[in-house]
Amino acid sequence: MSKSLVKQIEQLRSDIRRHEEQYYVLHEPEISDAEFDKLLRDLEALEVAHPTLVTPDSPTQRVGGRLVDGFDTATHAIPMLSLDNAYSEDELYAFDERSKKGSTNKIAYVAELKIDGLSIALTYENGILVRGVTRGDGSRGEDVTANVRAIRAIPLSLKHGLVETLEVRGEIYLPRSAFERVNLEREGRDEATFANPRNAAAGTMRNLDPALVASRGLGAYVYQVVKDKPSDSKAEGLSKLSSHSQLLQECRSWGLPVEPHWRQCDDIDAVIKFCREWSDLRHSLNFATDGVVVKVDDLQHRENLGATAKCPRWAIAFKFPAEQATTQLKSIEVQVGRTGAVTPYAVLEPVRLGGSTIHLATLHNEQEIARKDLRAGDIVLVEKGGDVIPKIIKPVTARRNKGKGGPTPFVMPKHCPSCNSSLRRANGEVIWRCMNSSCLAKIRRGLLHFVSRRAMDIEGLGESLVKQLVDADLVQDFADLFALKIETLLTLDRMGRKSATKLVHQIEQSKKNSLWRLIHALGIRHVGEGVAVALEQGFGSMEVLGRATYDDLNDVPDIGPVVANSVQEFFGEKRNRDLLVRLKEAGVTMEGVAVEKESQALPLAGMNVVLTGTLSSMSREEASSAIRRMGGRIKASPSGNTDYVIVGKSPGSKLKKAQMLDLEVLDEIAFRKLLITLGSRMTDKE
Ligand code: IVH
Repeated sequence: MSKSLVKQIEQLRSDIRRHEEQYYVLHEPEISDAEFDKLLRDLEALEVAHPTLVTPDSPTQRVGGRLVDGFDTATHAIPMLSLDNAYSEDELYAFDERSKKGSTNKIAYVAELKIDGLSIALTYENGILVRGVTRGDGSRGEDVTANVRAIRAIPLSLKHGLVETLEVRGEIYLPRSAFERVNLEREGRDEATFANPRNAAAGTMRNLDPALVASRGLGAYVYQVVKDKPSDSKAEGLSKLSSHSQLLQECRSWGLPVEPHWRQCDDIDAVIKFCREWSDLRHSLNFATDGVVVKVDDLQHRENLGATAKCPRWAIAFKFPAEQATTQLKSIEVQVGRTGAVTPYAVLEPVRLGGSTIHLATLHNEQEIARKDLRAGDIVLVEKGGDVIPKIIKPVTARRNKGKGGPTPFVMPKHCPSCNSSLRRANGEVIWRCMNSSCLAKIRRGLLHFVSRRAMDIEGLGESLVKQLVDADLVQDFADLFALKIETLLTLDRMGRKSATKLVHQIEQSKKNSLWRLIHALGIRHVGEGVAVALEQGFGSMEVLGRATYDDLNDVPDIGPVVANSVQEFFGEKRNRDLLVRLKEAGVTMEGVAVEKESQALPLAGMNVVLTGTLSSMSREEASSAIRRMGGRIKASPSGNTDYVIVGKSPGSKLKKAQMLDLEVLDEIAFRKLLITLGSRMTDKE
């Protein structure tokens, strides 16, 4: 056995493991799915040729992703297998031959669209949804029942066909439209956007707040009935079904969501026709799909074919060809965010890719451009990440003009592209910022954040309208929004009386928002939603908050020096104080009463919670924010009226104090359970 072969295999394994971690654990893939599949196939090929080199820990020897910390673990009674992939029509013919097992008879298949989401096992007992478990490592997943319940596409009870225990499996996904919306909102808040809908769906399901799941608008489709108890007297309906297509119809009739475009195909040629049709048509769908799942229709035949340790032999996933194209990178421009962050993006020679024409691609920051050595004028390889956001994979350096006058490395501008003021970069940061608070680009971004759903929640004020308002000098700051009149709005492009009236009404309504919304909307650095709620709870009114000293701020549980400084800085500026006076004069709520009232109905209303130690699965901010959203108050240290003490790793003296006071102490798992239970109570009420 050559040493270099062993080395090659080891290298592949370590690369794959690293990419698996980026993808499955961190949800931040560095390479395309196609590139990843290629690595895996290379490794598989080497291992097939040299079986003695296969080790139990090789990435080829596992079923799927790996467990992520958090939530309760649940065991799958029947493992959730993966699927073999086919990348060409020839591979589909080969699959057909294997399925025929030497017979010449045609085999009927069901072709379904492969939904690009995360797989889920749903258990119904006596027709009631009792459990939702993610795939995890295939044998054990995470119990995400509370989050599953928050997905409206999944029925909480079945219409009929009750069997004692029924497990169906399917896919949870984020519709394209919701994905775009979520990313726009995140962009508006200067937060990292999700790379593709699958990551967004997975990220959503991993969070602990079912209300957030509900608000994201996740979808789901089921495609497999795993087990029923034939002995169950009520189950005769199921056991008489002999084909997968009948099962899908049955699922539909129970009220379960089934992706409607599946087709029964008499033979593999009909399957291939389906694959060809959908490789174009798929772009018209509101969910991302990267292939077609081909399944033997006859259930008895499936049983005869059985499964390998990893995949069933009766199904295969046909992957659509990777959506890549080459085009010219015309220029690298920069855009200005709300906080003044100036980030580069690529202007491309328009190119057809994945059913649409792309003109732009994200570039993140100057380091990324340097790492890929992208230069304006280069021919570049572009790909649609998860079929939605185009990204540049690499320059085609072989086609670069290397002579004089050829493309030169990108140089980050030193001045703001909007207002021309000098850009600054803090020590150790990668992001350059425009520090001019009157910069129009910043103002537009700031306004978009101000009106966004988690801030003032003013519907109907999109990007183009905000641009028109700012460019026409009708709105220069947040307070100007409240002076807008129907007649003024009517002077704008594409603005009818109905929309103008509705918008003015929405703006008017937003004046009654809870105070935390306004605090969040102001865009004070480091003041996210959770901190905004803490500030409202800590100070009760904008006036008191504005007068708070550094120490007052620091004394509020969960507010640290960074936030304290930033809040002080904000109120220290006369311009900001004047803005607040004008907002108040316009009638915008400056008192915290609304939240107090709202919180009466919440499950932790009036309860005092102390956090100590480090939680492994969420930040302190996330934990506090979840508690506050349920009406709880975060307290600095345990006392006689503390309701819960949540203890993470390396707790301080607070734990001892809690034990002395005989308070209810919850470890991280118990705390998660509490959140999930309370969270599902909240969604029940909706
Ligand atoms: S059937 C034994 N049908 O693709 C596995 N899977 O790459 C049965 N997927 O883990 C899976 N759409 O999460 C099936 N219509 C579909 C699917 C589908 C998406 C996912 C599923 C599976 C993965 C395999």
